[in-house]
Amino acid sequence: METDTKNRLGTRILGYRRDDLTVHPPYDFADYRSTQHRHPARPLVLLPHTLSEITGPVFGHNDVQPEDSDLTIQHPGEPLGERIVVSGCLLDGDGCPVRNSLIEIWQANAAGRYAHHVDQHPAPLDPNFTGAGRCLTDDEGRYRFVTIKPGAYPWGNHHNAWRPAHIHFSVFGPAFATRLVTQMYFPGDPLFPFDPIMQSVRDPGDRERMISAFDWSLTTPEWALGYRFDIVVRGREATPFEHE
Ligand SMILES: [Fe+2]
Repeated sequence: METDTKNRLGTRILGYRRDDLTVHPPYDFADYRSTQHRHPARPLVLLPHTLSEITGPVFGHNDVQPEDSDLTIQHPGEPLGERIVVSGCLLDGDGCPVRNSLIEIWQANAAGRYAHHVDQHPAPLDPNFTGAGRCLTDDEGRYRFVTIKPGAYPWGNHHNAWRPAHIHFSVFGPAFATRLVTQMYFPGDPLFPFDPIMQSVRDPGDRERMISAFDWSLTTPEWALGYRFDIVVRGREATPFEHE
């Protein structure tokens, strides 16, 4: 749904398109326990977009440095684990590139532990790995990260609950209100059928679009395996996004 609104000077401001709610997981998914406590209990009220919501705050591009996209060079030593390249295109609903857009990632280390005080999973922290990176898409909508393949980790949702290895992705868009968040998985993970977060995306075809593809062209001899992950923000081929 498009929304028009006017600012104080009477200039028409075109709102952004709303999400297609059929592709994305529901707000309340019984098997994903914490959704029961945070989902809206009443029907959503769609408010008109406001000037500040549509036009700002705008992320300062000068703050993003080229080395921010390499998660293996943020500390004096190299992190432990399997070095990988993750790259793809950010596309709109018509398959056109989304240029100059901020993409952020965060992830567990190779042992399946986040460098975060809430994560007390008894796996080792890696002093050479923080697990956060960012970059801007180029003129073809491409992004590229160098990182470590994350480990699976237990998460306490139910008995013997383990998350498949994944990397969290945020696509910022032109304003904070347009930010989209999803998770990228690795092909062939045996934990897929047992993961309520992945299974909360109901259509198998939609789930496939959250799984990266092993890619020889991104694989660098003697150095790193490559995985391709394209992100589509709208339309029938949209990547499923989470409710934050
Ligand atoms: Fe995670």
